[in-house]
Amino acid sequence: MQANQGGALWGGRFRQSMAPDMAELNRSLPVDRRLWKEDIRASQVWAQALGRAGVLTPAEVETLVKGLDAVARRMAAGGGEGEPDEDIHSLVERWLYEEVGALAGKLHTGRSRNDQVATDFRMWGMQAGARLREELDRLLEALLLLGEDGVDRILPGYTHLQQAQPIRAAHWALSHVWALLRDRERIRLAEEQAAVLPLGSGALAGCAFPVDRQWLAEALGFRAVSPNSMDAVADRDWAVEMAFAGALLGVHLSRLGEDLVLFSTREFAFLRLSDAYSTGSSLLPHKRNPDVAELVRGKAGRLVGNLVALLTVLKGLPSGYNRDLQEDKGLLFDTVDTLLLVLPALAGALATAQFVPEGQRAPLAPELLATDVADYLVRKGVPFREAHEVVGRAVRLAEDEGLTLATLGLERLRSLHPAFDRDVEGVFSWEASVEARGVPGGTARRAVLSQLSEARRAIRR
Ligand code: ARG
Repeated sequence: MQANQGGALWGGRFRQSMAPDMAELNRSLPVDRRLWKEDIRASQVWAQALGRAGVLTPAEVETLVKGLDAVARRMAAGGGEGEPDEDIHSLVERWLYEEVGALAGKLHTGRSRNDQVATDFRMWGMQAGARLREELDRLLEALLLLGEDGVDRILPGYTHLQQAQPIRAAHWALSHVWALLRDRERIRLAEEQAAVLPLGSGALAGCAFPVDRQWLAEALGFRAVSPNSMDAVADRDWAVEMAFAGALLGVHLSRLGEDLVLFSTREFAFLRLSDAYSTGSSLLPHKRNPDVAELVRGKAGRLVGNLVALLTVLKGLPSGYNRDLQEDKGLLFDTVDTLLLVLPALAGALATAQFVPEGQRAPLAPELLATDVADYLVRKGVPFREAHEVVGRAVRLAEDEGLTLATLGLERLRSLHPAFDRDVEGVFSWEASVEARGVPGGTARRAVLSQLSEARRAIRR
């Protein structure tokens, strides 16, 4: 009997065929079918490596490579969807039999699905990471644009979601840029971790034929070969790292989403999302909901979940390959799919969002300048702790008298501390407040402009 006629790869030692419910549990084809390009490419290069090692003749290599091309054409035409095979590796091999006959049985020489799947998955991971970074770049550009538009707009900055100090709107937009740039670097590092070749590790002990693994690595775009075959078939660290990069990116996007939800309320009213990224209500005719931001915020849960699930799959596995590892792909696929859904929509929402003009939102509260008043006293020689206390009392006095810090007047201020003078007037200016913070990383115009150009350079690097 020809091997793999019914799609099973190991008939020899079995008397019974697999129970249908076991076959269902066993099957990963619906998940790993998407690795078909990687599987076929790696198989073609493996055939060539077997040829170079003298295991296959040049004519055999050519027939296998062409046969695999034909299998690829069938896959590209949408084939493989409803096939009964266990996984993508058995499906490709079965179709290869259909293309080239018994010679197909030579392809798996010296190879195991254990090193095969680890190789395919890493090849996929390298590309997925690059795709993610591309989409992340679009989002970063959109934030950069908002930043450029926000240099001359002053917003309240918050701590504990209580108004704290005035900031330039650009400073807010850029605060998200830096977090996302760190995410981009984490993704790139995970790609680098993925670029270590497991192929040539066999099931666990290595390959008994003299394949040139260095050549394999170069041919398949890997930067190195794995140093230990047992580690190689079980190592999913790169996938965990990519899932982590995705989870933390999800958390950052969720925080940005939360800002957008708040900023587009009537109460905050700092930013207006375009109609194209807002939704209405089936009942409330006036509603304009920031669903894009809420959906993004909601997706963080599954991104974190995928990371935790993957770590949990790995925990407690004995060394070598274990079938639990079949769970890895669905989790990371979901992380990447989720992000590829979220990133373009959020980039579009930000690219079409507008800051609400100053006259159309609630005026800033003078109490945002309390620290500036304290700093004023410090410049007059008052120790900061004392100045803090004095301004605290001034705020309370203003509250009691139905005034604000700005309308309290010199006389009342003087009653609290003799260091107050006429020039305290100058403190009650939003512009003066932000301009006082000119240190690198601060919210003064010059600092923000140099931050903007630094961010632009980092994004386009
Ligand atoms: N489908 C498996 C996976 O995703 C690869 C096959 C390894 N199977 C095996 N019995 N060793 O990990």
